[in-house]
Amino acid sequence: MSFKTISVIGLGYIGLPTAAAFASQQKEVVGIDINPHAVETINRGEIHIVEPELDKVVKTAVESGWLRASTTPVAADAYLIAVPTPFKGEHEPDMTFVEAAAKSIAPVLKKGSLVILESTSPVGATEQMADWLAAARPDLTFPQQAGEQADINIAYCPERVLPGQVMVELIKNDRVIGGMTPVCSARASELYNIFLEGECVVTNSRTAEMCKLTENSFRDVNIAFANELSLICADQGINVWELIRLANRHPRVNILQPGPGVGGHCIAVDPWFIVAQNPQQARLIRTAREVNDSKPHWVMNQVKATVADCLAASDKRASDVKIACFGLAFKPNIDDLRESPAMEIAHSIAQWHSGETLVVEPNIHQLPPRLAGQSMLVSLEDAMSQADVLVMLVDHKEFKAIAGDNVRQQYIVDTKGVWR
Ligand SMILES: NC(=O)c1ccc[n+]([C@@H]2O[C@H](COP(=O)([O-])OP(=O)(O)OC[C@H]3O[C@@H](n4cnc5c(N)ncnc54)[C@H](O)[C@@H]3O)[C@@H](O)[C@H]2O)c1
Repeated sequence: MSFKTISVIGLGYIGLPTAAAFASQQKEVVGIDINPHAVETINRGEIHIVEPELDKVVKTAVESGWLRASTTPVAADAYLIAVPTPFKGEHEPDMTFVEAAAKSIAPVLKKGSLVILESTSPVGATEQMADWLAAARPDLTFPQQAGEQADINIAYCPERVLPGQVMVELIKNDRVIGGMTPVCSARASELYNIFLEGECVVTNSRTAEMCKLTENSFRDVNIAFANELSLICADQGINVWELIRLANRHPRVNILQPGPGVGGHCIAVDPWFIVAQNPQQARLIRTAREVNDSKPHWVMNQVKATVADCLAASDKRASDVKIACFGLAFKPNIDDLRESPAMEIAHSIAQWHSGETLVVEPNIHQLPPRLAGQSMLVSLEDAMSQADVLVMLVDHKEFKAIAGDNVRQQYIVDTKGVWR
């Protein structure tokens, strides 16, 4: 059966681009979100998040009538669930959004519907979702009960797009398809092939769930290695950037770059899902998380030591010293401050320092409430001319455009190797 109507539950950074991609292939798409502001904005043909090219695709899709948004679930041939999966308590996955989303579509499911979970989830989440649906709809059969003959097909298909390049990667990337049965996988592949140029790679739901967690844990562990090297090199008086450049000349070595820590809502979160389920075995993955999470604290100590050096070499009082932080986002050239280690460091500096803390972040127009009042958003030029101590936190292109030789300040903490 081909898919005429598609419903995407959760219209955020993942769900909205996915809904728009189906709609641009002239499928009737209804996006569902509990946030009325998101729903109203999309129905005006506008977007409530920042992602290049998304505004144009959504505008066209809404104006041509293929995409609309609603707060109320509707019957559809296929459902894709893309709601948040943060962690709670001691870093355990919080599946309450997925549970609520599944329970909200259960009443409108019909024989032949396909349900796909896209949210990053712990192993077994798809089977759990299938149980929630089956409990709500005893009149229908599900893959855990009826296998290939089930009325409802269910699959786990994770998303691996890069924020800032979502509209390209959504279509070009290969996609892992984890059906609860081979029929579920075949139907999920058929669905994604509506817009996908990459390949559908088929497996089962548990492997697909673990695959997504593995990809982000791989990145986290490798960044932790670079971050640990940066600590060792600082102690040994070695330039870690030069060291990594040299080591990477080995044909089988490819070390990533250190930084102020790891942020965002994916790499800093997803490895914990593995640790929560396999605490005994996941020792390296846990340690990597701890190494990356402790990096902002180490950077803060570097800042304190550098300010102390600055004070010792001058007749200034601490309250006369101006510290400038360069960058707040969790990675270069975006405006996303969620879980950003740069934010955490800037906040700690502003709280600790008795003098002025200046912040340069070319991608925002005003400081977030947490920093406003404590520090001042200034231009790059003002920071370079006024500050005594420079703290490089994010390698935005504007900062990299300034050659290290042109930086007059002597007191610099450079977590990204831009000027030192
Ligand atoms: N953003 C990324 O780069 C990225 C990449 C890969 C995977 N993921 C994963 O995709 C999932 C979604 O992430 P996101 O960044 O799009 O989140 P988001 O916060 O941008 O969007 C989620 C949306 O779901 C809505 N929502 C919450 N509960 C709902 C419910 N019961 N019914 C309907 N809507 C509901 C929220 O209002 C919000 O608009 C998460 O599991 C995330 O880990 C995200």
